[in-house]
Amino acid sequence: MAHFNIAVDGPAGAGKSTIARAIAKKLGFVYVDTGAMYRAMALYFLRRGIPPEDEEGIRAACSDVEITICYQEGSQRVILNGEDVSGLIRTEEVGNMASATSIYLPVREKLVELQQQLARTADVIMDGRDIGTCVLPDAQCKIYLTASPQVRAKRRYEELKEKGIACNLEEIEQDIIERDYRDIHREHSPLKQAEDADLVDSSDMTPDQVVEAIIDAARKRGLKA
Ligand code: DC
Repeated sequence: MAHFNIAVDGPAGAGKSTIARAIAKKLGFVYVDTGAMYRAMALYFLRRGIPPEDEEGIRAACSDVEITICYQEGSQRVILNGEDVSGLIRTEEVGNMASATSIYLPVREKLVELQQQLARTADVIMDGRDIGTCVLPDAQCKIYLTASPQVRAKRRYEELKEKGIACNLEEIEQDIIERDYRDIHREHSPLKQAEDADLVDSSDMTPDQVVEAIIDAARKRGLKA
């Protein structure tokens, strides 16, 4: 029997991971964070000193990278060539490098295959940029989760501040606007709302309200839970 798949796409800082993780827990689904996979690839390129504009270097390096994921106490761990890098990929530097290098087809092809394989083996809620449009076009439920750039910047600012990381709100907002532009305008699998996706704008919603809205949408699309 086909598994029930929920695809959640949207721009950086829309709250996709927090929301998807909470929904996975509530529904007993597996949460797949595809951004973490692009981040792990980006970490590899950074470590090798390959600049993001070096398309040939990135293409060549792709054949030396193996990304896998596993789950420890329900949380996803990303393994880069045998090393668990989950704790190293959450920096702004790695996020920006992931955005800059995810434009290349060899990077995408490698990861999309892994993502599709995961969705075939379990009920998953998968978040990213191209899940509803490219990775899981047959997902039963598709959500486009967004919020205004100001709200997203403020959330990221609070998150970093809480972790004791020095940051500047205006810089974060500028970064978010640039990242949106790159993710939306790239040639391969750009960020966009799938035609059959439900739009959820979380700017004025609490996380609980967003979780409920998405579970409601999934029920309307046939989820029995
Ligand atoms: O969601 P995130 O911030 O962890 O993602 C980091 C970058 O990875 C994002 O800016 C673009 C890229 N990405 C992608 O191209 N496709 C996905 N499905 C997920 C992330």
